[in-house]
Amino acid sequence: MTSLSIHISTTNTLLRSVMANSSPAVASKLVRVARNLSTSRGVELSKHRALLCAPRARTRPLCHGTLIPRSRYPFANYRHLSTDSAPPPFFATSASNDTSAQRWRPPTEEDLNERPVLIIGAGNLGRRIALVWASASRPVTLYDVSHDALKAATEYITDNLAEYCTRRGTHPGHVCTTTDLRVALTTGRLEGTKVENEAHECELHSGAKGPWMAIECLPESLELKVDVLSHIEHLLPRNCILASNSSSLQTAEMAPSLHHPERLLNTHYFIPPRNRMVELMSSSHTYEEIFPFLAVQMKRVGLTPMIVPAGIQSQGFIFNRIWAACKRETLAVLAEGVAKPGDIDALFRDFFHAEKGPCERMDDVGLDTIAKVEQHYIEQRPNLRELGAQKPLDWLKREYVEKGNLGEKTGDGLFTAEERAALNVRHKEEHYQAVEETTGA
Ligand SMILES: NC(=O)c1ccc[n+]([C@@H]2O[C@H](COP(=O)([O-])OP(=O)(O)OC[C@H]3O[C@@H](n4cnc5c(N)ncnc54)[C@H](O)[C@@H]3O)[C@@H](O)[C@H]2O)c1
Repeated sequence: MTSLSIHISTTNTLLRSVMANSSPAVASKLVRVARNLSTSRGVELSKHRALLCAPRARTRPLCHGTLIPRSRYPFANYRHLSTDSAPPPFFATSASNDTSAQRWRPPTEEDLNERPVLIIGAGNLGRRIALVWASASRPVTLYDVSHDALKAATEYITDNLAEYCTRRGTHPGHVCTTTDLRVALTTGRLEGTKVENEAHECELHSGAKGPWMAIECLPESLELKVDVLSHIEHLLPRNCILASNSSSLQTAEMAPSLHHPERLLNTHYFIPPRNRMVELMSSSHTYEEIFPFLAVQMKRVGLTPMIVPAGIQSQGFIFNRIWAACKRETLAVLAEGVAKPGDIDALFRDFFHAEKGPCERMDDVGLDTIAKVEQHYIEQRPNLRELGAQKPLDWLKREYVEKGNLGEKTGDGLFTAEERAALNVRHKEEHYQAVEETTGA
């Protein structure tokens, strides 16, 4: 392995210097040679497209924007992963036109019990999705670059998993957390692993087969999501489903940056475990077999899947399109001073017999996430700007987001922390379920 790595490194250096002075035609030929070489050697020669595209790059932006040396880049050491469990070489599958050999095969029942669901991003949504999948004895790995996020996620899971399982009559699965991507990809439940109600630091298992599904719960930024997904996709086992939980970004927007968009799809959760519906939508390339398989697995963990019909792309999927209109007018009413958050929610609760109104819901989601999602809608649908959607959104950013008042996750939001606490008491009195409140989020 060492000599092979040296060989690869030497070849890459040569490629860099040759390509820096080559015409596009020669460069393209070199890429093909590199692909063939990587395939025949059974290793990945040029995982980093940057290597071939930007020969002088010595650093690479980490997903949240900081520049770190390549040696410290979280994906830099992937070659040390066990070759038994490592996925096949990048170009070996992507360059081939023979899709029959690559068709997606569903994980077996044994796989589902041993291989984890990997959640990328342990924030407001990631930890909740982790709880739901873990509530049916499934192993779950939570990966995040932030120790604080993992700490809060661990508290949330420890506080809620056992109670949620008791309510459902199920047993908790093994949940582990890590900031190390290599560990995240090579962990799982090994025979004899204790099943506990708490999340633990992950341990690296050389024999682990890797996740059967990876769900990205990263902040709502197309650039960030594409960056992470395009790097992680070839580190995952070949039949690993790649799911995005984005609220407003279609996986069809991410597909062009991936080499295997056939296993990528949107799985849009709401605020689980309180909300059990999940919308599924194709990346326009997704293998059709994934939908019925995933729908069955979701039902087994207590979720209710709803699939956008094949061939249709809908920004905001189903519910978020409707919710977006509601959010826009709510923000306009607030920004114009027509009513206060408490007034709007009182009217809404009364009319719909709803538990919460739009302002409390937006505080639950996080006003930063709301702002990003709404901004993306405006950019994708210019007629929204003509309808005046930008002004109330700017008001939200100025009055709340820029001041760090993001709602539930920071304390104050459209409602103050005290007002929300009073509303929570009221909800409990009204017999709404306590376990789904955003403890630890
Ligand atoms: N909040 C909601 O109610 C809600 C509902 C449905 C869907 N969503 C979607 O879920 C996604 C996540 O939203 P959220 O509210 O959980 O956001 P969040 O900001 O609470 O959490 C994002 C997490 O990602 C982590 N992260 C950032 N960069 C990372 C990287 N490079 N690698 C690994 N982890 C990284 C952050 O540390 C953070 O913990 C968004 O796409 C959002 O649109 C949110």
